[in-house]
Amino acid sequence: MEFFVDTADINEIKRINDLGILDGVTTNPSLIAKSNKNFKKLIKEICKTVNGPVSAEVTATKFSEMYKEGIELSKIAKNVVVKVPLTKDGIKTCKKLSKKRIGVNVTLCFSPNQAILAAKAGAKFISPFIGRLDDIGKNGIDLIADIKKIYSNYENLKTKILAASIRTTKHITEAAMVGADVATVPPKLLEEMFNHPLTTKGLKIFLDDWKKTKQKIL
Ligand code: E4P
Repeated sequence: MEFFVDTADINEIKRINDLGILDGVTTNPSLIAKSNKNFKKLIKEICKTVNGPVSAEVTATKFSEMYKEGIELSKIAKNVVVKVPLTKDGIKTCKKLSKKRIGVNVTLCFSPNQAILAAKAGAKFISPFIGRLDDIGKNGIDLIADIKKIYSNYENLKTKILAASIRTTKHITEAAMVGADVATVPPKLLEEMFNHPLTTKGLKIFLDDWKKTKQKIL
């Protein structure tokens, strides 16, 4: 499973990137607003920092504007992936950008049929939002499992399932269990993944015992 970090905070991105387990970044207009930075400059900096796809979202709602914004964003760096919402205009934009070999991430997916549309339009990624489905009493992981089942019926289909709106570490485990290709994870949760009380306890025992040997490796 690939890991993307779901943030526009460049310091967090750098910190997570240093761990050596980062495959890409997703941003959205809300995360950009939270960063208080110039959108295009920030995306450029993120693209330089991370060697992998960086999603930057269009904000127009009509096809012709969306397409122009997509082209503009794609010029920022080779690893920019244009993010479009799952609307008719978004799908049309996805098709046209994909034909030009520009990677597209179709966002705000909440049903298997929407995922079929994105794949038909040549999306590089489809982003089903797990947490927001859980919020309304549905099971977000079921959507990932359904999309996985559908996509695996079609060998030639290249669209990757990017589990989004991840709120808990359990979501990450479950998304991996049902075969999501990518999980985009908030920095805090990526760090939580490292933790287990038995790891901390076990390491302490090993190091205490090692001290007793009075040896050194280096
Ligand atoms: C995905 O690309 C989105 O940026 C993100 O996962 C949305 O998550 P939220 O529902 O926690 O805002």
